[in-house]
Amino acid sequence: MKSEYSTEAAIKAAAAIRRRADSQQPKIGIILGSGLGGLSKSIGDAVRIPFREIPGFPEPTVAGHEGAVIVGSLGGREVVALSGRFHMYEGHPAALAAFPVRVFHALGAQELFVSNAAGGISSKLAVGDLMMISDHLNLMGTNPLVGVEQKEEIRFPDMTDAYSPRLRWLLRTAAEKLGITLREGVYAGLLGPSYETPSEVKMLRLLGADAVGMSTVPEVIVARALGMLVAGVSCITNAAAGVTGSALSHAEVLETTNRVSAAFESLVTEFLARSTAPQLSAIR
Ligand code: HPA
Repeated sequence: MKSEYSTEAAIKAAAAIRRRADSQQPKIGIILGSGLGGLSKSIGDAVRIPFREIPGFPEPTVAGHEGAVIVGSLGGREVVALSGRFHMYEGHPAALAAFPVRVFHALGAQELFVSNAAGGISSKLAVGDLMMISDHLNLMGTNPLVGVEQKEEIRFPDMTDAYSPRLRWLLRTAAEKLGITLREGVYAGLLGPSYETPSEVKMLRLLGADAVGMSTVPEVIVARALGMLVAGVSCITNAAAGVTGSALSHAEVLETTNRVSAAFESLVTEFLARSTAPQLSAIR
């Protein structure tokens, strides 16, 4: 059986991107979460390629997501960004949710920066906080690596340091320099699209989750299978169900991401600017 989201398919998609942005050599891929797509406007010399022009990419269906791959430079680095990811709750298989990571890798990216909107579970998190992801819980009911093993991929990837200690350190130093409070915690990825019940949030807290969302996990698993280093930030857009007793809405999620997008954008830019420092390359 041949996978629709194979290495060959990723190479084809990467070739379509390269045809439009041939002088760029992105070494890091960035995935912009719900309401965080504004970062793409800060990308210099940007070439925007709509999803419909990329073979294998479907149109996104969620409000607040704009479907494009943007190649350009940010923080002094060449980057490739995804604005409008593919969620499993749209009915997409996990392999498609993670397919853009294969495409980034085919373009030459060795690092991945993921972002998302998430509900805060830990009492240490407030709405509007940025949380560096230290680890995740895959509660999506599947895994994007299920199926045929792809070329260049590790069949049983080690997930011990799924979120690179070196990149986490860089993120922390970037936040310190900017005076941005950066929380840290475990992200639980659930299928969605319904938000959790208060009892499910209680369960997630017992399992060790600090925040909950409906994305990110498939992309990070595939990145690790391809040997890429990963860093990630959750924007805490709301208190998870039952934490404060107020009802959850997608409008609140977008309102919070709007409010913190400037801090998020400066954090990512500073992180990128720091990640070129040669003395750091010895640390994973
Ligand atoms: N739960 C799941 N996904 C989310 C939430 C939440 O509370 N907020 C933003 N994305």
